[in-house]
Amino acid sequence: MTVTRDTIRTARRAIAAAGLFAALACRGSDTQTNQAGGNGGAAAPGAAALPARFALGSPADSAMLAAINIDVNPAGAGLPPGRGSWATGKPLYAAKCAMCHGVNGEGGNGGFYPALIGPEPRDSFPFAHDAKIPHTIGNYWPYATTLYDYIHRAMPYTAPGSLAPDEVYSIVAYLLAENQVIPRDAVIDATTLPKVKMPAHDRFVPDDRHGGPTFR
Ligand code: HEC
Repeated sequence: MTVTRDTIRTARRAIAAAGLFAALACRGSDTQTNQAGGNGGAAAPGAAALPARFALGSPADSAMLAAINIDVNPAGAGLPPGRGSWATGKPLYAAKCAMCHGVNGEGGNGGFYPALIGPEPRDSFPFAHDAKIPHTIGNYWPYATTLYDYIHRAMPYTAPGSLAPDEVYSIVAYLLAENQVIPRDAVIDATTLPKVKMPAHDRFVPDDRHGGPTFR
């Protein structure tokens, strides 16, 4: 199909009218419908129907999908091969995290950089009597596995996704040990991390509310 100026103008109108570009893509095989929905009867006589496809984007190949398929769920599914411990994590934390989260994980910049280290005072849940106590990995984080997910996905803040699996495992091990959740000599990998139970784990309950009609 030849793309004429009219085609492009019609397409622009269709996009504006539809509001959602996706709506066009879904109806790509039905050019009549697209044109009827988009040109409002204003197209010049003989204007070409919209093409079945617009030459936008490119098919996602498996490498592209793998690059964004990085989630690790609470049970540990998705954890990659690799390993680390407190000893390998300590210098990494100092080099890549301490400038924001503090040398001792105490947080910084008036709380803008969250505190990460702060063991739970055993046998208590301090937020019950003071909601302003900083939430840390030690006193609030419910799953050890999602630490891997979050740090790999989002940190360091200025270069998310830049850490290799061994680096993430090492930093996770360092943070867990500093929060007194694991011993310093524990090796953290895809097998051991899901077995780590976080101090605050039992403070959370599944949200089984059903909500209103729009949330069913
Ligand atoms: C440039 C500053 C900066 C650096 C460097 C940085 N972070 Fe962060 N980090 C942040 C900010 C800001 C947030 C809060 C983000 C938000 O709430 O959306 C955060 C949030 C976090 C959280 C979640 C805390 C919570 O209680 O929700 C973790 C865990 C974390 N960072 C770990 C790390 C680790 C590990 C590193 C080093 C690899 C690192 N960060 C490097 C700025 C930084």
